[in-house]
Amino acid sequence: MKITITGTGYVGIVTGVCLAEIGHTVTCYDIDKTRIKKLQDRIMPIFEPGLEEMVINNSERLSFISDYKEAYRDSEVVFICVGTPEKKDGSANLKYVYDAVQQVVECVKSDCTIVIKSTVPVGTGDNLDRVINQKNDTKRFEIVNNPEFLSQGTAINDTMNASRIVLGVNSAKAERILRNVYDGFRQKYVVTDRRSAEMIKYASNDFLALKISYINEIANLCDFIGANVEDVALGMGYDPRIGNRFLKAGIGYGGSCFPKDTKALHWLANFNDCELKTIKAAIDVNENQKIKLIKKARKYYDSFRGLTVAILGLTFKPGTDDLREAPSLQNIPILLEDGARVKVFDPIGMDNFKKIYPSEIEYCNCIEETLEDADICFILTEWPEIVTMDVSKFPFYMRNPIVLDGRNCFSLEAVEGKNFIYESIGRRVVGQSTQIKESILKSEKAG
Ligand SMILES: NC(=O)c1ccc[n+]([C@@H]2O[C@H](COP(=O)([O-])OP(=O)(O)OC[C@H]3O[C@@H](n4cnc5c(N)ncnc54)[C@H](O)[C@@H]3O)[C@@H](O)[C@H]2O)c1
Repeated sequence: MKITITGTGYVGIVTGVCLAEIGHTVTCYDIDKTRIKKLQDRIMPIFEPGLEEMVINNSERLSFISDYKEAYRDSEVVFICVGTPEKKDGSANLKYVYDAVQQVVECVKSDCTIVIKSTVPVGTGDNLDRVINQKNDTKRFEIVNNPEFLSQGTAINDTMNASRIVLGVNSAKAERILRNVYDGFRQKYVVTDRRSAEMIKYASNDFLALKISYINEIANLCDFIGANVEDVALGMGYDPRIGNRFLKAGIGYGGSCFPKDTKALHWLANFNDCELKTIKAAIDVNENQKIKLIKKARKYYDSFRGLTVAILGLTFKPGTDDLREAPSLQNIPILLEDGARVKVFDPIGMDNFKKIYPSEIEYCNCIEETLEDADICFILTEWPEIVTMDVSKFPFYMRNPIVLDGRNCFSLEAVEGKNFIYESIGRRVVGQSTQIKESILKSEKAG
């Protein structure tokens, strides 16, 4: 089957390589010529574990081109994997989807199945179907909604062994074609109409966002009442009705999906004179949570002016170079505006961060260099390098060893008695704060 993938971002490139892996001939097209050139040279434009090897192993069946006419001419199935970013009002921007579909319709020689993998508002598939098929009597287009559920960092496995493949189809023919495409995956199908498939994607993402915001609120209360959120989550998670995933308290969700998908569904509900109070609450809680460490830091310092702040982790989660909606992008501007000297380390995300902050902050080669002379440290991403570090490095390298951990990277036992203040999310504070405060005052006097 001749398949074209439109958009070679996190979803497109992973979908393309996985379909090639099960034997399809796949052409990947992107409007970004630099991205395509990189892929032709086997340089991955994104960081995703296992991706490069799989692209190389499937070279025979996988091509990357930047000419859309050539990309679409002979396609039988086109997967639309372009971005659907948030507009200013919170709704989803469908410009990229419509532009891409328009090009397919213009260029493909004969009947074609267009599969919308991008996350799109309910009704988009029906709308595309109407607009396209009314105008065309020579070619017939099947429009399918096939939402994607992969997580960055585990995207290949999530695709090859998906928990379910949702097919939003309005004809038996479209269902047959998609089952043929996915034949090699042997997975569970949920076959439904297009509108329900579109809704499944938003309802799933928003439920996970809600679960995260829920445990974060519980964690905030734990801070006040002296309970330990990790024990609370453990006790909750054993209940199969609740489950233990997405119950890790922290400084909020980020990434390319949860923030925009909660806002888009909320917008869609409002547009239909409906209010999704739970989703609104999840959005509000998350906004506050992202600057939780700044609030904690203010207990120690009224202002960050003249202080050296060490930041460990920049990406929205480990295993990816993606910075979209990462808490680092909320916290670092506040620190800079306040006059702090900001030193950062991230194992993968620094090149992307340099595109946003080329010179205002100091990029360090390792954790030790970042901590050197710092007055406070914020941990924003739970990279393995950070989770497994020797915690005695904090008091050894820092001028004032105050560590605010937004991802609960260390057990309280591991940091106990190590001569630094350790504050995390929803767990008690460890460390002799009065002793350290005195040392801060002393160093301020000396400075
Ligand atoms: N990233 C994820 O983890 C994830 C998971 C599930 C679903 N989704 C959804 O999938 C969609 C894609 O997400 P992503 O993170 O891969 O996006 P991305 O921004 O990483 O990639 C989108 C790509 O599409 C290209 N593009 C834009 N317009 C084009 C056009 N007309 N023709 C060809 N290429 C075009 C861009 O140049 C870019 O390379 C979004 O709707 C997102 O919500 C993403």
